[in-house]
Amino acid sequence: MLKILKYMYILANWKNSLSAESSKRLAEGIYSRLLHQYLNMEIVIFPDDISLLGVRSILDSLSIVKIGAQDGPMDKTSSLTGSISASNLSKFCDYVLLGHSERRTILGETNEMVALKATEAIELGLVPVICVTKGNGTVFDPYYGIKAQLESIHDHIRRQGKYLIAYEPIDAIGTGISADTEDVKNTAETIRKMLSGIQGSSDIPVLYGGSVNAKNVSSFLSLEGIDGVLVGGESLTVDSFLKIVKKASDTQNLQ
Ligand code: PGA
Repeated sequence: MLKILKYMYILANWKNSLSAESSKRLAEGIYSRLLHQYLNMEIVIFPDDISLLGVRSILDSLSIVKIGAQDGPMDKTSSLTGSISASNLSKFCDYVLLGHSERRTILGETNEMVALKATEAIELGLVPVICVTKGNGTVFDPYYGIKAQLESIHDHIRRQGKYLIAYEPIDAIGTGISADTEDVKNTAETIRKMLSGIQGSSDIPVLYGGSVNAKNVSSFLSLEGIDGVLVGGESLTVDSFLKIVKKASDTQNLQ
């Protein structure tokens, strides 16, 4: 009998870490070494805006690799200096990363802004990956912050469309200290329950992000409620990123 592999999302968040030239070189490395066609897996690369087109042209022919922007437009009708137009973005990307905690903390992005961007992305046929954190929780309700973030998305996403949720604890981002798998398991379960209460659906993919590497990736991907990972630092070299992809595939086969 043919084994059905768990569908997994492996996302690479390159942030602003690479020059346009290094981004191209990394994309070329991924292209030439991703010979083995993994099954039931989507790899999404999020380069910085200036590298988007170059990276896309290199990886375009690999069907399991998609390209995403690290932010999305908020309002297609108003002019906004410094922003990329919605129609441009939708021609060159498949995904947009929204509400990363660095943007929420440093740029003051609110739940409302993230929700507006998610709505617009869905209208344009882009898949938003909405990052959530437990930031404003209390001892009585550690999930309060996540609940507020999810409820605001629901208020805006009137038309059902595909989106992903990435749980990224702030303490785990870029520190080399990933979250405890028990915390990730419980939070993913809570997110699913909340989404099913808010939206009536519990099959939205939930990802984990924060210091993911080749050594710990299997421990997250083997959790029942986790459908993928969002990788920052360890997605910046061909070796470290493809080791993660390989481990993800091994984890699929073990399940
Ligand atoms: P990290 O970054 O893997 O370097 O912790 C993850 C992220 O910021 O999305």
